[in-house]
Amino acid sequence: MLLFVWVVVLFGLKAFFYDFLMFLFDWFLLGRCRRFLVGRARGCVLEVGVGTGLNLPFYGGEVEVVGVDCSEGMLVGAFERSRDIDLDVDLFLMCVECLGFRDGCFDTVVSSFVLCNFDPVRGLREIERVCKPGGRLLMLEHVRPDNRFLDFLFRCVNPVSKFLLGEDLRREPLKYLEGSGFEVERVERFGWGLFMYIECSLE
Ligand SMILES: C[S@@+](CC[C@H](N)C(=O)[O-])C[C@H]1O[C@@H](n2cnc3c(N)ncnc32)[C@H](O)[C@@H]1O
Repeated sequence: MLLFVWVVVLFGLKAFFYDFLMFLFDWFLLGRCRRFLVGRARGCVLEVGVGTGLNLPFYGGEVEVVGVDCSEGMLVGAFERSRDIDLDVDLFLMCVECLGFRDGCFDTVVSSFVLCNFDPVRGLREIERVCKPGGRLLMLEHVRPDNRFLDFLFRCVNPVSKFLLGEDLRREPLKYLEGSGFEVERVERFGWGLFMYIECSLE
């Protein structure tokens, strides 16, 4: 019983601290990027690593959203957020690398700040499988800095980040997309080269 309470508290804390940290980033920089990202989504949308649902308020009412995440605590946050907004949302506890959906059933897949966490080869293969031909993949990710000094700093802290948070701070999404069926149509770097917006379509 005590263990159960501890697990619930721990998951709740993770979601609480995530929201607190992201509140600052979103207010300063990322809020308008989220709005732009999900404003491009159409039809039946899969959001992978939906987290506490920080993108949900920005979707237009005409889309249906399915959110998946491997953390129950984060999904509870997303569920609570989804109750306050007028949006058709279904949430599932699921890993990106093993999506329980049939082939080609989503018009758009959205990924924000998740590529640093999942296995990029297996994850992108699954995203490609569930995306309709002609569908879109919209990504907003933090990436390996193009500035050599920042990259050096990231190289130093990356082992700690990987070990403690499971986050690879030096991922290069374009490298992984090259080997996939997605065609990259738009790329924009921003935030001192630390973030990237990528829009792709499935050939
Ligand atoms: C940095 S958070 C981003 C959350 C949200 N997309 C956002 O923009 O605020 C990364 C999220 O991805 C989830 N995640 C990490 N690895 C995953 C995986 N393999 N499959 C599904 N979700 C994963 C984590 O639980 C977490 O909620």
